[in-house]
Amino acid sequence: MNKGAKVLVVDDEKVVRDGCHRVLSKRGYEVYTAESGEKALEMLKEKDVDVILLDLKMPGMSGEEVLEIINKKYPDIPVIIITGHGTIDTAVECMKRGAYDFITKPFQIDQFILTISRAVEKRELEKQAQKNLYDLSLEKSRLKTIINCMANGVMVTNKNLEVVLHNPALMKMMEIEEELESPIPIERIINDDSLIGILRKILEENIKDEFFYLELKIKNRYIRTISASALGPEDMVVGTVTVLEDITDFKRLDEMKTDFINMVVHELRSPLSAIRQMNTVLVEGLAGPLNEKQRDLINRQISRIDELLNLINDLLDVAKIEAGKYVQHFVPTDICEIINNIISLMQEKAKQQGVELIFVCENKEPVPADPDSIKEVFSNLISNAINYSLDGGKVEVTVKGLKEYVEIKVSDTGIGIPKDEVPKIFDKFYRVKDPKARHVKGTGLGLYIVKNIIDAHKGSIDVESEVGKGTTFRILLPIATR
Ligand SMILES: Nc1ncnc2c1ncn2[C@@H]1O[C@H](COP(=O)(O)OP(=O)(O)OP(=O)(O)O)[C@@H](O)[C@H]1O
Ligand SMILES: [Mg+2]
Repeated sequence: MNKGAKVLVVDDEKVVRDGCHRVLSKRGYEVYTAESGEKALEMLKEKDVDVILLDLKMPGMSGEEVLEIINKKYPDIPVIIITGHGTIDTAVECMKRGAYDFITKPFQIDQFILTISRAVEKRELEKQAQKNLYDLSLEKSRLKTIINCMANGVMVTNKNLEVVLHNPALMKMMEIEEELESPIPIERIINDDSLIGILRKILEENIKDEFFYLELKIKNRYIRTISASALGPEDMVVGTVTVLEDITDFKRLDEMKTDFINMVVHELRSPLSAIRQMNTVLVEGLAGPLNEKQRDLINRQISRIDELLNLINDLLDVAKIEAGKYVQHFVPTDICEIINNIISLMQEKAKQQGVELIFVCENKEPVPADPDSIKEVFSNLISNAINYSLDGGKVEVTVKGLKEYVEIKVSDTGIGIPKDEVPKIFDKFYRVKDPKARHVKGTGLGLYIVKNIIDAHKGSIDVESEVGKGTTFRILLPIATR
């Protein structure tokens, strides 16, 4: 540790200077010498010194005077006083005034070396501490620069929900022009109940490893927020951090795309329905007799048109769902009656595919629901169960009254869904690529619509599935009227 440490020896006696030089250089120190206080101060202006050995009794400037100046100008350099036997009191006095230690002449080599190496060590530790402080402040200012340059808004609060850190992007998003003092109550920056509610929950419930996502509309802008707790020493929740992203442009683009699709879909529906109608007239022979081949072709046209109309209807449903206009009329609804009707309609299709279709109803409670959309839910689930079953399979629908819910299960003994695909099947347009289901026509919108309808009823839907064994969808619908 002492290798290369620089020691300045200040003594008017040449023997002492030379002795120190010899002993210290042998041990790897770099040694400078000065024969007077004045000369020492001159040298300190140019040289970087780690330890000073200072004689008290010198002609010209006294050791005490030199010590005073060094303490003032170079407070970090430890000074070791060199004293004769008779002047120990003065040396002690010097230590009171800031000298690091003293050694008495004539030097005991071991003692001498020990004292110097202790002083060098002290100096090294201080240098290290200073470097750490410097690194810390550099890191802090680097972090500050990054946060200030971010395009996303950043907001950090303390436990009292006062904002202690924010960046220019946040101020721009919130259209705040004046400089804000810190800490500042959160409401002065974002006065949004849902965000404040989430932050309060994080703090009150001490939530550590979770992110909370929200979409807010503030001053005509759509903003997506991600919030989490800010952790202090010993992993204590000391505040919250929120990153805010302005997604207004994406939203507008998305709205334009949706409007465009809706317009096209709408325009397609009427002519397609008309073509279907005319084809039915032809098939029924109302426009004159058809031969076998002609009837077959027109029937095939009708089924292709039905596929297109299905897709169009699904797309229109999705548009309504996304506009929040799909599930609107809640009335006490008999779930069993709705499912019974669907089952009757689907028996024929199930039979054609060699699938047994069973319905068990053990519930009398009406459920506050929108009958049309509930019909949509179970038509989708039951037709999926039949479609993704194999010849000889069984589809079972059960309705059970639980305490606060009605539980509906749609189970099949079909092809099943691989585990890693299960979380994706409720996504828009998602279909599992299974060769066994290649013959099934579909758009991947069914379950997306189902999930949205169940959510609008404040219910839940989950799936259990095993490849090759079958799938069960379990739906809970709350009975309590809201
Ligand atoms: N009971 C089931 N058994 C096995 N796989 C299923 C079952 N139900 C759904 N799936 C899988 O989930 C995917 C998504 O289902 P979803 O009903 O959303 O779309 P789809 O049936 O392909 O088309 P459509 O929009 O016409 O209903 C299906 O493509 C299928 O791969
Ligand atoms: Mg489907």
